[in-house]
Amino acid sequence: MFFYFLVAVVAALIIVLVSFYLAVFVIGKKRKRHTFDEEYEKERAKNYPPPYPNGWFSLGSSSMVKAGQVIEVAALGQKFAVFRGEDGKVGVLDVYCPHLNANLANGCVKGNNVVCPFHAWEFDKDGKCAHIPYTDTIPRKAQTKAYHVQENWGLIMLWHHSDGIAPTWSTEGCLKEVEEYKYHSMTSDVLRIHLQDFAENGADYAHFAFVHDILTIPFANKFVYVKHTLNIEFGEGEKGHEAYFSDQADLVFRKNDQLVPQAGGFATVTFFGPGFLVFKFKTRVANVLLVKTFTPLGELKVRMDDYVYAPKGTPGLMIKYILGEASAQFHDDIAIWEKKNFATKPLLVKGDGPIMKMRAWYSQFYTENSYLQRGTAAPAKPIMAEEEELVEVE
Ligand code: FES
Ligand SMILES: [Fe+2]
Repeated sequence: MFFYFLVAVVAALIIVLVSFYLAVFVIGKKRKRHTFDEEYEKERAKNYPPPYPNGWFSLGSSSMVKAGQVIEVAALGQKFAVFRGEDGKVGVLDVYCPHLNANLANGCVKGNNVVCPFHAWEFDKDGKCAHIPYTDTIPRKAQTKAYHVQENWGLIMLWHHSDGIAPTWSTEGCLKEVEEYKYHSMTSDVLRIHLQDFAENGADYAHFAFVHDILTIPFANKFVYVKHTLNIEFGEGEKGHEAYFSDQADLVFRKNDQLVPQAGGFATVTFFGPGFLVFKFKTRVANVLLVKTFTPLGELKVRMDDYVYAPKGTPGLMIKYILGEASAQFHDDIAIWEKKNFATKPLLVKGDGPIMKMRAWYSQFYTENSYLQRGTAAPAKPIMAEEEELVEVE
């Protein structure tokens, strides 16, 4: 009798493990790829806020440009020459040389300057022309646009401000935890979304019950669903560019709405302006940290890079499973964002979550110039700034 019992237990265990393996490694959830009518996309973009809010944006990993190298990087609707001097420091200049507009990224690095491939003018990291090989006098106007850049946690971060002002906050110390964790992996994707939709998603409490209630493990969803308990807060003063989201995700038996003991997890997200954030997933089995960067490339075109970290010794399988669940949730959101429009005055009801509070927080990242540079007039007053202006239905 005991033998049969043992066989049954082992068989059940094998089924669970095989399902788990299939979910993590075989089935996975591939992102649904939409097709886009480019002409219509231009119209859709006009309904959204401007594509380039103000803040720090990732140009990519530090490793993409070695000392003595210059490369071209496209971001924020333009192209940059990103180079690393022999001193190890990164400079970011407008890619086109101010002399006759050759592409500086096709040049080379000499010392700590970038050298243009056309007439060999040299520019330093401040964009100042440091040398012209065939003339003694360097005109004062021989200067190209240089960008504020900070390099932290293996990323090259660029400051963008539509008014051309210097950084109003720093990326230093934003992601202290990353230093305590071990780097695991990185993924990158280009999404046809406006990056504000990502931020609004955390404040859109009602969609969690409909979009994020199932797991990737086959068959599990017949028995359990995920219940979310959500909260969002906004930084003040010096931390005004930060926002904090949390989600206690519990597994609940469909049969009786009772919690599955010891299951589920806790996720927090800290937003640092519009360009990057850190996700922390805490579960019974493992903790995972995800640095997500959003780099707008053009209207409704955003590069999303995910850098994954976990405490030393965390089993790779566990990291993959937690990430698999998280990215399945993102994919479900992305499928909606890529085909939605922007409701300037949404019809909100009780239970929708603090969507307009999130919009009010986000509106600090646009100035009048953000609209003017996009070629549209700025709204007479920010459409999203006043909570009292909401169309809110009780
Ligand atoms: S175009 Fe760059 S030096 Fe002439
Ligand atoms: Fe979502």
